[in-house]
Order: sequence, then structure tokens, then C-alpha cells
Amino acid sequence: MTVWGAAAVDEAVAGGAGAVHVGARDVVTPLARERARELGVEIVVGSPAPVPPTVPAPPPATAVRHWTLPDPAAVSARLGSAPRPVRPPSGALYRRGAPVARATAPARGRARGGGAGGTGRVDRVVVVGAGNVGMIAAMRLADADVVDEVVLVDIDEGRAAGIALDLTHTAALSGFTTRVRGVGTVEEAGRADYVVLTAGRPRTPGMSRSDLIATNAEIVGDVASRLARTSPDAVIVVVTNPLDEMTQHAWVSSGFPSQRVVGMAGVLDTARFQALASLVGAGPADGVAAWALGSHGEEMVIPLSQATAGGRPILERVGPADLDATVDRARGSGAEVVGLLRSGSAFMAPGTSAARMVLSMVADRGEVVPAAVLADGSYGIRDVYVGLPARLGRRGVQGIVELDLRPAELAALREAANRIRERLGALARP
Ligand code: LAC
Repeated sequence: MTVWGAAAVDEAVAGGAGAVHVGARDVVTPLARERARELGVEIVVGSPAPVPPTVPAPPPATAVRHWTLPDPAAVSARLGSAPRPVRPPSGALYRRGAPVARATAPARGRARGGGAGGTGRVDRVVVVGAGNVGMIAAMRLADADVVDEVVLVDIDEGRAAGIALDLTHTAALSGFTTRVRGVGTVEEAGRADYVVLTAGRPRTPGMSRSDLIATNAEIVGDVASRLARTSPDAVIVVVTNPLDEMTQHAWVSSGFPSQRVVGMAGVLDTARFQALASLVGAGPADGVAAWALGSHGEEMVIPLSQATAGGRPILERVGPADLDATVDRARGSGAEVVGLLRSGSAFMAPGTSAARMVLSMVADRGEVVPAAVLADGSYGIRDVYVGLPARLGRRGVQGIVELDLRPAELAALREAANRIRERLGALARP
């Protein structure tokens, strides 16, 4: 199987091909299809025998080095957060009217965007990918009514525009003034303050995890480098799977400082734990506080030493066997939803979580949430994106916060980082 990206289409056309011939089992990325449309060539499955495309090409040596090089800004900043009391995320992650974004929103129409210190509003959030996750993220962002414009971007421009119009129709019902647009390219979306990057493919039957990585790396890399031109000051919240690897890839491809590229998964995985712990007797979900760290997958770490329910250690409310089962269920929640839906994956909680992170940054409250961030040496982990407690501010990640983990919890976190690093190594190798 070969993954055909936009560059491979360019190459085929430059070589004089009137059509791009791909193998029956090849994966053609959405961007490749878009490029073929732009160039007016057809993508034909079958003979003549496919010309081996150059994508995925062996990454140049510099790209390989990028996987392991620290971002100097990240290291120097060591994200010097003064010690402040840190509570695990708890309470409503997003609730209309909650003080998340409004506490610092004294008035509309003040100085916008970019600057430190929250005005509580921003000009534009661009949501790349108008699939279900992008749709829910856009809805949550519009409902919060702190963004002047939400723009959905999708290669299926009609879908983006249709969702945008449908969402616009809810303005009176939900009471927001946010404008919502749907367009076909990030260039048409315009300069963003924040970007929610959901573009990518879900895994389809027969596709291995590494196939998925290669396909989505092509998409994420292309979008991130274009975003760097159209929105050079934006903060990117990455949602595309495999989450940790794609967040690091977006960081490398964008050239942004690591503070402005952050992955959404810990907020989602924590929300799932909160909800599921509630189901086994921990009390209301928003009274459960916990951290989902490590990877968004098998190496997810939910340190129970840090989890509380109703302000008390969670182990006082729920027995250890039920808690262990709840951690396992949270870890497998994405797959559990996929199994029930049969087609597609979860979108309510993922979309809400991504919007929640953007709203936290807009509000500039210095909230600490679990998120995929470039490790800076905290927890003995360095130079790899992994889920850690991160303080979010207007301009992205302000710092990584160290929790007092037990040795086994710390070991599991380091193991998660090692596994992510291994997978990134596999991606970077030809
Ligand atoms: C999940 C996918 C979105 O966890 O990663 O549901």
C-alpha cells in the first residue's frame, strides 16, 4: 500500500501524466484529491502500474533531527510558573454562562487577539476539518459567544458551509453573536488567533496504525505549514490522531514555538474518567477531579494518588477494584464508542474538549489542564510531546506543572513518553 499525498500528485503531473494512476489498495489523501482537482487531473485506480510516488519520502536528515531536538524557547522558558496551588481539572469543563470565558470579559469590542492579558474575546478561531469533531467544537465555541468569528475549513467546502449556516441559524436560540463561516482552505479562512486542527482520516478496516500515522502526518504537516503562513501568531490545538505524534508533527511542520502547539487529549480522557467514576459511585462527575496523562491511548496514566471526589481522596468513595476498572474503561472509551457507533468515532466529548481548551486560553485564567505538550525535563522527560499538566494562558502553554506522583505512576508516565518517542522514530525513518 502506498500513501499518495499532494506532492506525489504534483510530481506525477510534472512528469507529464494526464492522470494519476494509483493502486487499488493505495491511500489517496484528501489533500492529494484536492490538488488533483486543482490541476484538473483525474485520479485513476488501476493500470498502468502505479508509478511509485515519492511520498512518503524518507524525511530529510533535518526532519529526523527535529524529532529529538528541543525547542530552545521551550527549554529556556522552562515555563517558569511560580508555584500556585494546582487542582486537578474538575467541575464543568464547559457550561454556557460558567465563568470560564466571561469572568474576564468586561466588554466587547476592546483590544483583541494576541496580547497578553485577557480581554475575554478574540477575533477568530479556525476549525480545520468539518467532520463531527470539528462541528461540535465550532458549536461549543459559538455558544460561548466570546469569539467574533468561527470559521470551519474542509476540503468538502459544501459541508463546511452547510454546517456553518446551520449553526448560524441557532444564534437566536443559543443567544450568540459569533459569525460562523465555512470555507475550503485555510487561506480563505483568514488569520486565526486559535486553530483547532481536526483534519485527518480515521483508521479504516485493514489500515495499520503506522498507515494511519503516515496518512495523517501528510495531512497535518501540510495544514500546519500553511497555517504558519496564514496565521503566524496562532495557537494550534491538535486533535488529529494519533494525537501525541500528530501534535509533535504539527509543531515541527509549523515551526511555531512549542508553547503555541498543544494537543487535546488529556482534557477528553479526564472528562471520561470523571463521568465514568460518577457512574460507579464517586458522586457528581463535576465533583470528581483527576488527571489523565501520558499518551492518548494504551499508555494513558491516570494517577489515582491525585484523584479526588467531592474534595476527598477518591479511594474513600470508590473501591480500588472499581477504580482500576474505571481507569481501564476511560482508557478504552474511544474504542468503546467506535464499537457502539459502528461507523465513525466519538465526537461530542472530543469536540467539547477542544473548544474547552480554546475557551480556557481566551479567558487567560492560567488554568492547569492535562494536555499534550513538549516535555521540558519535568518528570524526567524531555523533548517529546506527551500528556502532562499544563498551565494555559492567552498565548498557549505557560508552563508544565509537576505533581507529586508515586514512583509507579511516574514510571508509567516515563514509559508513555518512551513509547511515543519510539513511534515518532518509526515515522521519521524511511
Ligand atoms: C477518541 C478519539 C477521538 O478518543 O481519539 O474518541
